[in-house]
This record gives sequence, structure tokens and C-alpha cells, in this order.
Amino acid sequence: MLILKSASEIECLRAAGRIAAEVLKKVSEAVKPGVKTSELDRFAVSLMEKAGAVSAFKGYRGYPANICISLNEEVVHGIPSARKIKKGDIVSLDVGVIKDGFFGDVAGSFPAGAVSREAEMLLRVARECLADSIAQVKPDARMGDVAYAVQSKAEANGYSVVRDFTGHGIGRSLHEDLQVPNYGKPGTGVRLVEGMTFCIEPMINAGVSNVVVGDDGWTVTTKDKKLSAHVEAAVAVVKGGVDVLTAL
Ligand code: MF3
Ligand code: CO
Repeated sequence: MLILKSASEIECLRAAGRIAAEVLKKVSEAVKPGVKTSELDRFAVSLMEKAGAVSAFKGYRGYPANICISLNEEVVHGIPSARKIKKGDIVSLDVGVIKDGFFGDVAGSFPAGAVSREAEMLLRVARECLADSIAQVKPDARMGDVAYAVQSKAEANGYSVVRDFTGHGIGRSLHEDLQVPNYGKPGTGVRLVEGMTFCIEPMINAGVSNVVVGDDGWTVTTKDKKLSAHVEAAVAVVKGGVDVLTAL
């Protein structure tokens, strides 16, 4: 069931989205060689607490941590642990919170110290994929326009998009009934209408699009072990265009 949001519900989603974005920013600033990913997880939860929010991921289908941290060839859903970030790693952070019953969900990929030129380009293109797809969002546009913006920018740069995972509707649950793929055809798919709220989450691979789920049941890795980047924003379709709910 598609759940359209009123203006006041959109404000509640913005409050949650902003907290998620603030946590993402502060945790990203703590990404440095030598830091354990579990330390970042604890830092994230302390920031959520201060903001009167809780993790949207902890316990979700049994997920054991508060945020997701995926390094290098890991695409999404990496579980924080005692392993240390190394210089040159690319670190994808995914932060979800619940504030007053509404969900915020945001992600970004960040360099740990100096990274290779290849890695830097991947991070830049992933951000551009997200920006281009957000720019497509407005009443009467189609979900295929949003999806195609991600795919075309990624493929024009020699990258591939992950097809096994998509973005999703967001509201009073983390995942509502709207799929936001990272590939598609312009002019096809669901027609966007005012009050739709969803997360766009490009997962961009340097090599093949195929992914595998690890033995922990969570960590998604590229099949060819090449680098991957993940960025995510929550948006609302509003009169005349788009409202980014995970802005700072
Ligand atoms: N941003 C991801 C999503 O929308 C995060 C889910 S992680 C999980 O699905 F642990 F909650 F599953
Ligand atoms: Co999401």
C-alpha cells in the first residue's frame, strides 16, 4: 500500500531525516585510519541519544548493530566490528533513526585519509548519481526517470549499478511500499505524486553489478571484489518539485 504524507507528516520526516544527516556528518568526520568500525557505531548511538532518537536498524530483521559500515568491496549492510579502518579505505556509512515514530535514512561514502584516484572518482560519481536522480523528482515524473538518472551517470563513467537492492518508501516504517531501483527506462514506472516520500540509494560498483551476501547473513559484497560506493537521501515529492528530507 502506498502511503501519501501530509505536509505535517513531511515535517516529522524532515525532523528524523535531519537527525540522521547530522549523525552521518559527525560520524563521517570521525572516519580515520586506525579507528575501529565498532567505535563509530558507538559514537553514532551516542549522537542519536542526544537528539532524542533511536537507531532504526538495530534489531531490524535481527540486524545486530546501530549503523551499517561497509568498506571497499562491501556494498551495503556491513556490520561494525573490532576491525580497524585503514588508510586508503572507502567507508560507506548508512544511518537510520526513529524520531517520534518517523524514520530517517541516509548514507554516504567517505575516504579514509588519502585514497586512490580510482576510489576518489567512484565516490564523486556516486554523489553525482544521487544528485542527478533527486533532480528528476517532481509531480508527474516517473520512477523510471529517477532510476535512469542513476544508471546513465554510472554507466557513462564505466561503472555498474547494483540491481539486487533498491531504494524504498519511508514513513512510519523504514521500508514502505515503493521501490526505487537504480536502473530503468525514462517515461516508465510509477507516476510520482505529491506526498510520496522515499529513499533513493545508488549503489555503484567499479566492476560488475553482481553482489553476494556474506556468511554473517548481512554484508553485501561485490562479486568481483572491486570497489563499491553507496549514497542515500530521503525525499518528498512536493508541489513544483522535490524536498530533500535528509538535508542538514
Ligand atoms: N538504508 C538501508 C535500507 O534502507 C539500511 C538497512 S540496514 C538494516 O535498507 F540493518 F536495517 F537492514
Ligand atoms: Co534505505
